[in-house]
Amino acid sequence: MPTKHEQETAVSAVPHQSVLDVDDLAVHFQLQGGALSRLLGLRARSVKAVDGVTLTLHRGEVLGLVGESGSGKTTLGRALLGLVPTTGGSITYHGRERGDRLVSEMRGAELRRLRTDLQMVFQDPHAALNPSMTIEEAVGHPLVIHGIATGAELRERVSAALERVGLAPVERFLGKYPSDLSGGQKQRAVIARAIILQPEVLVADEPVSMLDMSVRAKILQLMLDLKNDLGLTYVYITHDLATAKYFCDRIAIMYLGRVVEIGATDEIFANPRHPYTKALLKAIPEPDPEKQVPRDLPRGEIPDAAVPPLGCAFHPRCPEAIAGCGWESRDLRALLEEHWTRKVEAYDDEVALIGDLDSLDTPSTTAKLGSGGSGEVRALLDRIRAEKPDEPLWKGVTDIEPAGNGVEVQFQPADSPALRRAGGAEVACILYPEGAPEP
Ligand SMILES: Nc1ncnc2c1ncn2[C@@H]1O[C@H](COP(=O)(O)OP(=O)(O)O)[C@@H](O)[C@H]1O
Ligand code: SF4
Ligand SMILES: [Mg+2]
Repeated sequence: MPTKHEQETAVSAVPHQSVLDVDDLAVHFQLQGGALSRLLGLRARSVKAVDGVTLTLHRGEVLGLVGESGSGKTTLGRALLGLVPTTGGSITYHGRERGDRLVSEMRGAELRRLRTDLQMVFQDPHAALNPSMTIEEAVGHPLVIHGIATGAELRERVSAALERVGLAPVERFLGKYPSDLSGGQKQRAVIARAIILQPEVLVADEPVSMLDMSVRAKILQLMLDLKNDLGLTYVYITHDLATAKYFCDRIAIMYLGRVVEIGATDEIFANPRHPYTKALLKAIPEPDPEKQVPRDLPRGEIPDAAVPPLGCAFHPRCPEAIAGCGWESRDLRALLEEHWTRKVEAYDDEVALIGDLDSLDTPSTTAKLGSGGSGEVRALLDRIRAEKPDEPLWKGVTDIEPAGNGVEVQFQPADSPALRRAGGAEVACILYPEGAPEP
């Protein structure tokens, strides 16, 4: 019997039918400061987990959300299902077809309907299953709590779902507990539970990353088969571009809460434009050892999302950064500290000249530096600059002025770049300005 979605959808992606429209979405989490920070009168900090994301989920497609840990993928996925309160912007479900339905404004029955139409599959199948429920109870649970089926019909629907996900013969699995199953079998059960309400959209959050290598491809293939058979639309969240290449029609690359590049999977792989996308692609392990490339991303760790870099958030790690990318006080501190790791012998004298660096930790395009006389501090900065004149930070310095007993370094201010069309993709990087030919 065809499902409700088979009746109303074509199986392949329908580019102009949107299921979800995300517009300038923000999800910020307030971090409760401890008692000490309250005593000191420090402002509560917030993490911009999702910050200005605009994208459309097309009916029938697999849209990948790809990025390193902390880039906001899970938060965006949860927001799509109305599971986290949004701070700004909007998510519209079936906006164009069925009248505006803002996820953030849904309540009661409408929110429950959304929660049956959109289902999430989580990374850890073990944590997702209640250890004291049999597989039959777990997979049938959504039908019970929504009052959809009981008795023989319930068992029939559970059996059909188990069969669909390859947990067959079904009789062998109905009475089992999660602890009796392998990781791959547990994830199959979780997927059976997710499809039993005949949802329209599955948000799969790293669904294979905790599974053995040997079963990953099988689970992904199962998900593709289900998508085709049931007319599903997928949001596939992963930090792993290799599985995204195999699985996704389109990919959105995320960095610190923003989409930095989005386009068709083939386009992203054949012609990556954003420097972060290029770095991620280089980090894919190469099966052929002759072609191994360095796996580490350039220049350091992902910054703290509570105090992201000014300008383009990727600039401290970007190998292509230029003057207008958002250089600031914290970059100057990092540069000085890096200099002292190379010139340990100079540390004591130079620190005496430069003075306390802690003021540089407050993000600013003005950095005050030095306590040993402005001429001397200026001369020291010039010497450090001469050691590595190509260091991109210096390109962003617009002025170094005497100030008190030291200097004031001015950086060129910059906004976070917006997504703009560039060839077959959209890219958020100042190397791809509006309407310009591609570099
Ligand atoms: N409930 C929460 N409270 C506070 N911060 C959170 C919460 N959930 C996520 N974050 C923060 O938001 C950022 C994005 O997290 P997440 O969406 O889990 O990213 P990803 O799935 O890409 O690893 C991280 O800095 C994370 O620490
Ligand atoms: S705007 Fe582009 S070039 Fe500049 S730091 Fe960001 S990614 Fe690199
Ligand atoms: Mg996550």
